[in-house]
Amino acid sequence: MYVLNTWYVAAWSTEVTRKPERRVICEQPLVLFRTQDGTPVALADRCAHRAFPLSAGRTVGDSIECGYHGFTYGSDGMCTKVPAQTTIPERAKVRKYPLVEKDGWIWAWMGDPELADPADVPDTHWMTDPEWATVTHSVHFACRADLIHDNLLDLTHESFLHQSTVGDDYIYEHGITVEVEGSVVSVDRLMPSVPAPPLYADTMGISGNYDRFHCTEFFVPNLHVLHSGITGEGRPRAEGYLIKVLNGITPIDANNAWYYYAFSRNFAVDDAQATADLEVGLATVLREDAEALEAQEIGMQERPAGEFDVLIAQDGGVAKARRILANLIKREQAAAQKPAAVAGTRA
Ligand code: FES
Ligand SMILES: [Fe+2]
Repeated sequence: MYVLNTWYVAAWSTEVTRKPERRVICEQPLVLFRTQDGTPVALADRCAHRAFPLSAGRTVGDSIECGYHGFTYGSDGMCTKVPAQTTIPERAKVRKYPLVEKDGWIWAWMGDPELADPADVPDTHWMTDPEWATVTHSVHFACRADLIHDNLLDLTHESFLHQSTVGDDYIYEHGITVEVEGSVVSVDRLMPSVPAPPLYADTMGISGNYDRFHCTEFFVPNLHVLHSGITGEGRPRAEGYLIKVLNGITPIDANNAWYYYAFSRNFAVDDAQATADLEVGLATVLREDAEALEAQEIGMQERPAGEFDVLIAQDGGVAKARRILANLIKREQAAAQKPAAVAGTRA
C-alpha cells in the first residue's frame, strides 16, 4: 500500500550514468540511465519480450538494448528494433516514468503520469548551495518506510539510541509543538540553555550552553526536512549554527526502503576535517537507526494481530502523519477504482 502519485527520490544524480542502473520503488522495478546529452531516463526494468531486466543490458545511443535477445527501446519506452525480424510487435513497449533532476537527486513519479508536476518536488537547495557544506549517505533500511517516518517524527529516540553523537536526556524532557498544513506535518522542539551535542560541539568548536532546536517537516509521504541547530541563549534561530537534514524516504517493498540522506550545515563550510568528522559521526547515527528499525520491523512481524502501538504525547506528529498518509492512500485507491466501477455498470 503506497502513495503512487508523488515524487520519490530514485537515486543520486551521480549514480545515474550511461550504464543502466536498477532501482525498485513501491515494488516497481525501474532501469535508470542517461541519454547521450545527459538527460536521465527511467523505464520499467522488464523487457516486453520475456521479462529479462533491461538493467542487465546496455545503452546504445539514446536507447537501451536488452541483454537477452536484443530488443531495443527508445527513451520513450517504445521498441525500435527487434534484431530477429523486421517488424516490431505492437505490444513491444515498456512503461516510461517521469523524472526530475534537482539539487543532486533524481526524483521519479510512480503514479499517473498525467498528474506529474515537477513544481511539486520539495525544496532541497541546501544540498548544492555554496553557502552550505553537505555530507551525504544512502542506506538500505530493512524495514517498512513507515518506521523511518515515525523515527524522524519522534526524535526523543536520540536520547537513547544516539547517546554518543547527538543524544542527551534533555531531548525527551522538552515537549513538542505539532502543526499541519496540507500534507506537511511539522514537529518542533526547543531546548533552551543546554549543551550542544558532542558531534556538533566538536565541529562548531564551541562549549557551554546554547538554545538547541529541531523541527522536522514531513512532506508526506516522501521527504523529511529537519531544520536543526543551536543558537545563543534567547537569540533567534536564524543567527545560529544551522543544519538542514534532508531525508528522502523511498519504499522498496513492504519491508524495505531506501534512505537518501544529506546533512547540510552553514558553519565550518570550508573545514575539511569537520566534514570528515561529520561523515563518520553521521554514518554511526544512521547505522544505529538502521539496526534499531530492522529490529523493530522484526518485532512488528512477530506482534500478534490485535496488538497495537501505545502512543504518547511525544507521538503527536506520528499520529497526524499516519492519518494523512492513510487518507492519501485511500483517496488514490478510490480514484483508481472509479473507472472500473463505471465499466462494471456498463457491462
Ligand atoms: S527478453 Fe529482452 S529481448 Fe528477449
Ligand atoms: Fe535516529
